[in-house]
Amino acid sequence: MSMDKVQIPWTDSDGKPGFWGALHSLPRRVYHSVFRSRPIPANDLERSQAVAANFFFHLHSAKVQERTLRFKTTLGLGLLSLYTFVILVVTGILLMFYYVPTPVEAYDRMLDLRGAVFFGTFLRNLHRWSAHAMVGLVFLHLMRVFLTGAHKAPREFNWMVGIVLFLLTLLLSFTGYLLPWDQLAFWAIVVGTSIASYAPVVGDELRYVLLGGDSVGAEALLRFYVLHVAVLPVVLTTLIGLHFWRIRKDGGLAKPREK
Ligand code: HEM
Repeated sequence: MSMDKVQIPWTDSDGKPGFWGALHSLPRRVYHSVFRSRPIPANDLERSQAVAANFFFHLHSAKVQERTLRFKTTLGLGLLSLYTFVILVVTGILLMFYYVPTPVEAYDRMLDLRGAVFFGTFLRNLHRWSAHAMVGLVFLHLMRVFLTGAHKAPREFNWMVGIVLFLLTLLLSFTGYLLPWDQLAFWAIVVGTSIASYAPVVGDELRYVLLGGDSVGAEALLRFYVLHVAVLPVVLTTLIGLHFWRIRKDGGLAKPREK
């Protein structure tokens, strides 16, 4: 082993940083404390160390096929679904500062958002349109996965996780629909929960549990609110984590079988 003195990057040749040395090396030290690798790795070993030490890179499988990185392989639909979900969480949290889930206040608060709150209309529309976009994107992603045969072994489990993600996305959209407490929302939920009551065996109970009673009222609004802002987002976030972890464990994205 070489006995040469190893120089720590932010010290001078005597091993002492000094004030200016410490100041000069501050950005490098901050970078090193987070990433533990050089900004531009020089060889394959350093490259793999950089990947292993970075949380976001580490989400990828150890080996990534070049063709799976091409846009036309996935059309970016999985990531676009994720981005719309992130926009929904951020705008949803901001909307929670104004919204009150009671029949007396909900509709007025929604009107306030449109008329009195700075950027309120923009915020509400961003949330609404992102919700529509997420439903469409998740469905297109599902179709892409199916049409490229990526749902087959060994990815069946992730396909099932995906199906649950799709149902949760629809439920998030449905529960959000009631919250403005306007005529459209009210009657949509009356119709939606009536359809649920036609489910075999548990139909009436399901409708009762969803509404917290026999009709659409304060209890239903509170239930839909809690499901919409807490239960469903937490479950969805957890399952998205599982979905990404499975992609890694299944050896990255599916590729056509070699002939
Ligand atoms: C919240 C919803 C979802 C998010 C954020 C999401 C995210 C992703 C991402 C980022 C990928 C990497 C490749 C790509 O972009 O296409 C992926 C792959 C995959 N997704 Fe999803 N996904 C969601 C819903 C679904 C649904 C509804 C299904 C199917 C029912 C599904 C099944 C799969 C499968 C099987 C793969 C591996 C595809 C392959 O190996 O080519 N995902 N997902």
